[in-house]
Amino acid sequence: MAQRPYVIDQMISAKAIAARVEALAGEISRSFAGTDKLVVVGLLRGSFIFIADLVREIDLPIEVDFLEVSSYGNAMESSREVRVLKDLRGEIAGRDVLVVEDIVDTGFTLTHVLKLLQTKGPARVDSCVLLDKPSRREVPIRATWTGFEIPDEFVVGYGIDYAQRNRNLPYIGKVRFT
Ligand code: IMP
Ligand code: MG
Repeated sequence: MAQRPYVIDQMISAKAIAARVEALAGEISRSFAGTDKLVVVGLLRGSFIFIADLVREIDLPIEVDFLEVSSYGNAMESSREVRVLKDLRGEIAGRDVLVVEDIVDTGFTLTHVLKLLQTKGPARVDSCVLLDKPSRREVPIRATWTGFEIPDEFVVGYGIDYAQRNRNLPYIGKVRFT
């Protein structure tokens, strides 16, 4: 797909991300201490690097599952409609669930996913997001754990894409059109 030309300016370094992920995993490990029924659910595809780093720092006997939802519309605007493209493989009834997401923007996606998971009878549902853009919020929702609050910029890297590109950058960068 043809894109307007752009450059990527680093916003959060790989080192800063690693330090924050370690701290988040520590808080999560303490919060779920003693449980042997935690399922960490990554939202595909944007969370794949974040969840990979996060679970390796969580000191609990966890399971990992994935859910893929889609929003319709163009590459830079999230839509209000959310559709399940790939459902969980495992049961979450009676389980503790931690949803791992890349970004909360308007809040529609996380709100919808949490509502959906609640219908499956989990014991507990919490969420951990790497990035939050509070100024963009349209639905009042806050993740249980947030990595970084960022301004209203379109970001890529560390799993996050612009038109499917740039997921492999080791840092978070902002897209600047040239
Ligand atoms: P929300 O439903 O508006 O909260 O949108 C959340 C989803 O929109 C995220 O999971 C991302 O897929 C996408 N998104 C929001 N902001 C950005 C961004 O800056 N870069 C890339 N994707 C984004
Ligand atoms: Mg997403």
